[in-house]
Amino acid sequence: MFYSFELESYLHELLPERSGLLREMERQALQETIPIVTPAVGNFLAFLVLTHKPRAILEIGTAIGYSTLWLTQAAREVGGQVTTIDMNLGRRTRALEFFGQAGLSDCITSLAGDARKLLPTLGQTFDFVFIDAAKGEYLEYLELVSPLIAPGGLLVVDNVLFRGWVVPGAMFEQKYERMVGAVREFLRRLSQDSQFVTTVLPLGDGLALSLKR
Ligand SMILES: C[S@@+](CC[C@H](N)C(=O)[O-])C[C@H]1O[C@@H](n2cnc3c(N)ncnc32)[C@H](O)[C@@H]1O
Repeated sequence: MFYSFELESYLHELLPERSGLLREMERQALQETIPIVTPAVGNFLAFLVLTHKPRAILEIGTAIGYSTLWLTQAAREVGGQVTTIDMNLGRRTRALEFFGQAGLSDCITSLAGDARKLLPTLGQTFDFVFIDAAKGEYLEYLELVSPLIAPGGLLVVDNVLFRGWVVPGAMFEQKYERMVGAVREFLRRLSQDSQFVTTVLPLGDGLALSLKR
């Protein structure tokens, strides 16, 4: 988050109380430095699902299933199903346990493997896609997932402002240069892709929202 700490805390306080399960997942993610969306982003994902009412949702990057649960809790209210992909088997196993504890296993299909290999095998379209995996691979996901998004479908991508480092002139350690370049190129390509109408929000680490024409 690169708006002020005070504003972030204030927005955080406005969020409704989260379930004990979500708070436990936040605690574990913090303790083990597993990067998950902020509660404000989770809440916004749920808002998007409730307003867009997708039947089929795809998530690239499950981790321990925190954002998946935000998506699925809302999806259940609108009769949607969630497919989520992660290549980290340990995290996926923990996600499956959390899905069970939330009583949402029936609404979720969890796929293990590299999204770049799995996406071409899915053989279905989605009304809502959330990308939150390896930033250096975003352009590859975009190419593979674009044909799977139904007309009128929504693509949501996390971390597109990458701690504000995508802004020209921003200072960051040299080791991040390649990744910052990849995210900048991704945002440039997505913004210019005439299949989509795209807008970028400075929520969390930056969210791109693209509506497929
Ligand atoms: C930022 S975490 C996802 C966090 C999750 N969306 C949340 O907010 O709760 C990114 C995840 O993407 C997974 N990942 C990275 N590259 C991947 C790939 N090529 N295919 C599938 N999963 C990938 C990692 O294993 C990691 O668990």
